Amino acid sequence: MQVGTVLHLALRATDDAIRVEVTDTRAERLPELRPPRPPAADAESGRGLLPVEARAMRWDVAVEAAPRKTGRTGDRAGAAGKPGARSRPPPLPSLPMVNGDAPRDPDGYFPERIAADYDRSSARMFTPEVLDPSVDFLHRLAGDGPALEFGIGTGRIALPLAARGVDVRGIDLSEAMVARLHAKPGGDQVPVSIGDFATTTVGAGGEFALAYLVFNTVMNLTSQDAQVDCFRNAAAHLAPGGRFVVETMVPDLRRLPHGQEAVPFHVSDTRWAFDRYDVVTQAMSSNYVEVDPETGQGSYWTIPFRYVWPAELDLMARLAGLRLRERWGGWEREPFTGESGQHVSVWEKPAGP
Ligand SMILES: C[S@@+](CC[C@H](N)C(=O)[O-])C[C@H]1O[C@@H](n2cnc3c(N)ncnc32)[C@H](O)[C@@H]1O
Repeated sequence: MQVGTVLHLALRATDDAIRVEVTDTRAERLPELRPPRPPAADAESGRGLLPVEARAMRWDVAVEAAPRKTGRTGDRAGAAGKPGARSRPPPLPSLPMVNGDAPRDPDGYFPERIAADYDRSSARMFTPEVLDPSVDFLHRLAGDGPALEFGIGTGRIALPLAARGVDVRGIDLSEAMVARLHAKPGGDQVPVSIGDFATTTVGAGGEFALAYLVFNTVMNLTSQDAQVDCFRNAAAHLAPGGRFVVETMVPDLRRLPHGQEAVPFHVSDTRWAFDRYDVVTQAMSSNYVEVDPETGQGSYWTIPFRYVWPAELDLMARLAGLRLRERWGGWEREPFTGESGQHVSVWEKPAGP
């Protein structure tokens, strides 16, 4: 893509797909088409949400009244390209409810190719400035443990916590992520159960001083039911007086104008990223469109989440028999305010009846 090229990006929702149209005014070169590939390492930088598996979408190219061409993807109905098809885009429907759909890969949205690049693409999260305050915070609550990490991944938090003498165990869906953890020094001392942290049981139950779920991973559970189950599962693992800690973002709906369902969060010459929100179901997705500047090839990814409010998490905790004990704007116990973009919340299992 040349500097100075004028591009138009259009997003159109159909019943079962989102169509992305990238139009430029140059006629001299048509994009070469190719299958999607995973996002670049910094595709979600600053958002704390990891690049995950691409959902394949196809691209096509239409040359229109010269000099103009349009690349499209996501039009499963095949209407794109038919005469008149673009003149009356359908009204934007609400998103279909994402109700705990299990992704096809047994490793979920963190399969081998994502796991292989996780530590590098999340390098900022491994820096002492980011990591140390979270490990300090969790260590204080865990004491000697045992502690249970939901979505333990490659051991970013678990390994430094274990290095401080805490007995840490974990649950994760992704064997590929856990293989990275177990390959690191000390990793073989951290037992991990492969399964869904909303339902998987570790040990006899009721023995953990601390359970924790960090880095927005609660939003990987794409239904309210699954999030409620996650709180119940955490509570079932805690000893009386034990704590459950969640670090996650505050839904950023103030950036969503009335009547609109997409919010861009990255716009450059070659990459466009936007969130889609369904404010009825709280389903959301992060979506990525990228054009290779060398070849003009394009690709599209979508990642499902369910956004969840702090007060809603408190209610889930109450349903599970837990009580809010602390809420901070970050790991360094920054005050939680109306401007906080994230929160670190601590719920407690009552020590007595
Ligand atoms: C963003 S990574 C976080 C990893 C690690 N906690 C960290 O902070 O670096 C999310 C991890 O949660 C796992 N995960 C996502 N949803 C899960 C689920 N429902 N059950 C178990 N693991 C899940 C993924 O496989 C992945 O390893």
